[in-house]
Amino acid sequence: MTTGVGAPGRAQIEARTLRTDRWWASPAFTFAFLLVMVVYLTWAIFANKDYFWEPYISPMYSPCLTGNCVPGSGWGWFGSIAPITPAIIIIIFPMGFRVTCYYYRKAYYRAVWRSPGACAVPEPHRKYTGERRFPLVMQNLHRYFWYIAVVFAIILTADFVMSFRDHQGHWGHMGLGTLVLLVNVALIWAYTLSCHSCRHITGGRLKHFSKHPLRYKAWTIVSKLNAKHMQLAWASLAWIGLTDLYIRLVAANIITDLRFF
Ligand code: FES
Repeated sequence: MTTGVGAPGRAQIEARTLRTDRWWASPAFTFAFLLVMVVYLTWAIFANKDYFWEPYISPMYSPCLTGNCVPGSGWGWFGSIAPITPAIIIIIFPMGFRVTCYYYRKAYYRAVWRSPGACAVPEPHRKYTGERRFPLVMQNLHRYFWYIAVVFAIILTADFVMSFRDHQGHWGHMGLGTLVLLVNVALIWAYTLSCHSCRHITGGRLKHFSKHPLRYKAWTIVSKLNAKHMQLAWASLAWIGLTDLYIRLVAANIITDLRFF
């Protein structure tokens, strides 16, 4: 090999790595977790049923825009042109936001592409072109996906508010599903606001924080969230799956929603 770790000028080390710790554990766990989530969420996207039980709608299917939404769940904007699973139209945007996320990039570059698998572990690829060429240059769209993600967070917040109704649509009620949606929307907001792009939007390009006290305050809060971005990325992703599962089980009459009042 004349490129990468085998390039002239690089130390020629026979061993695959000199690391003796369990460096592979983190990428292996990441790979397994991502695999479980991708398989479940793909199945949920194409299931196209049991995603709505008034007043709850799965975050995978909200906003339900096609004409074939379960009655009462949808907006029906694309009724005549999209007789497909409503989740397909929606998932493009949250998925685009997550796939281009700076943290997820690190996670799947390491766990899936092994580029590299861990620090001081050579990658198996011969060439490294970074993110300067197609398709990886598209990762730069992340900052724009952020604005769309905020719109989705607002819609999911509305879904949470709507969940203070009973199965007949009367207001002033609450069930376990309401709490499930609350945790979901809280994690989605925390993940969205902890984004590196959000940190740049709030505090970037400023020469003097002292002249922009509000932006400085916002940047300080976002920076604290940003330090937990990895944890929020995993927790929010897992909870989206759990929220979908809970609503699916209720809608399919496998479990009963626990009503508080
Ligand atoms: S960096 Fe992860 S969502 Fe923006």
